[in-house]
Amino acid sequence: MIVWLIFVCVAGVSAVEWDAPTPYDPVWLASVQQYPAVPPLNETRFWWGWVYEQDVQFRLFTRRNPYEFQVLKINDSMSLWDSNFDFNKKVKVLTHGWLNHGDSPMPESIKEAYLNVSDLNIIVVDWGNAANVNYILASYNVAMVGRLLTQFLNFLIDEGVSMDDMHLIGHSLGAHVVGIAGAYVREGPIDTITGLDPALPLFTLGNKDARLDKHDARHVEVIHTCGGYLGFASPLGHIDFYPNGGTRQPGCRFDYRGLCAHNRAHMFFSESIISDVPFTAVRCKDYDELYYSGSCKGTGETLIMGGFDIHYGKDGIYYLKTNAEKPFALGDLS
Ligand SMILES: *[C@@H]1O[C@H](CO)[C@@H](O)[C@H](O)[C@H]1NC(C)=O
Ligand SMILES: *[C@@H]1O[C@H](CO)[C@@H](O)[C@H](O)[C@H]1NC(C)=O
Ligand SMILES: *[C@@H]1O[C@H](CO)[C@@H](O)[C@H](O)[C@H]1NC(C)=O
Repeated sequence: MIVWLIFVCVAGVSAVEWDAPTPYDPVWLASVQQYPAVPPLNETRFWWGWVYEQDVQFRLFTRRNPYEFQVLKINDSMSLWDSNFDFNKKVKVLTHGWLNHGDSPMPESIKEAYLNVSDLNIIVVDWGNAANVNYILASYNVAMVGRLLTQFLNFLIDEGVSMDDMHLIGHSLGAHVVGIAGAYVREGPIDTITGLDPALPLFTLGNKDARLDKHDARHVEVIHTCGGYLGFASPLGHIDFYPNGGTRQPGCRFDYRGLCAHNRAHMFFSESIISDVPFTAVRCKDYDELYYSGSCKGTGETLIMGGFDIHYGKDGIYYLKTNAEKPFALGDLS
């Protein structure tokens, strides 16, 4: 019931009339769904969150094709070897969230930022068909899309890509897609996962198999910008950043649905890739310090949030301030 209320208040969609099957467990759902399946009616997905293989597209961008993507297909070696995919370069996989597409600002801005700085293999996971349904169904689809991404990553491994070169980046529901993909990948762990304001509604802390958590990659970094509303407030990764306290964001004014704050996560991250000015954060004593005061005095240790090269550091909770508008980064603390 509480979950239902959160859904209604957060998403502002009150026209949904059916109940989600309970208990909510996308991993179980994925395991009982035979795949590929031939459901009699297209409407099946409205009830059970069916995701067809053709609903998820893996789009490759490199500096040779920064705007026109090449489609890579699971288990189709030719699609890989005939493409601009460069086995000597690192791989960034970008996954959007609810109501978004492969050409939404996230992943688009992050792709552009990376290609501006370096020639990389950027793979945009377009799961727009499965993400543009009501929130409950989209959240069911997350597990299925995650499993498809797992198959895709296993395929890359078979073709010779090392998991050490792999960095998965997901926003909102997309953060759980990459989390689930990372958890099930055959020759894990994946090197790094960045979760950009991982979606909260319907995802519980208890069921870590169905959401992003720190076991999904060697290094899991999370940026919280709408914690407690559209995003998780609790720490989920090895390193959790809380810009401006992680709940509300300056410059977002009457952000009653939280979408402005929710989107700040990928705006901060894409800026951090190209910016000369770092997002320097201070380490909190613990999560309680941040939770009760909304900020942290700092323990003396600092760490840069995001960046082209992820800054690995001491695991923990980090706090930083940003500007209210672009450019957001405030640089080194004086
Ligand atoms: C199912 O719906 C999709 C669009 O979501 C459409 O492209 C497809 O042709 C439909 N399939 C059938 C069997 O009606
Ligand atoms: C790809 O190959 C793997 C291993 O052979 C198989 O388990 C998986 O179902 C295949 N996936 C697709 C989409 O063909
Ligand atoms: C890439 O960087 C240059 C110089 O910093 C900038 O002028 C340009 O707009 C950037 N392009 C993209 C696509 O971000």
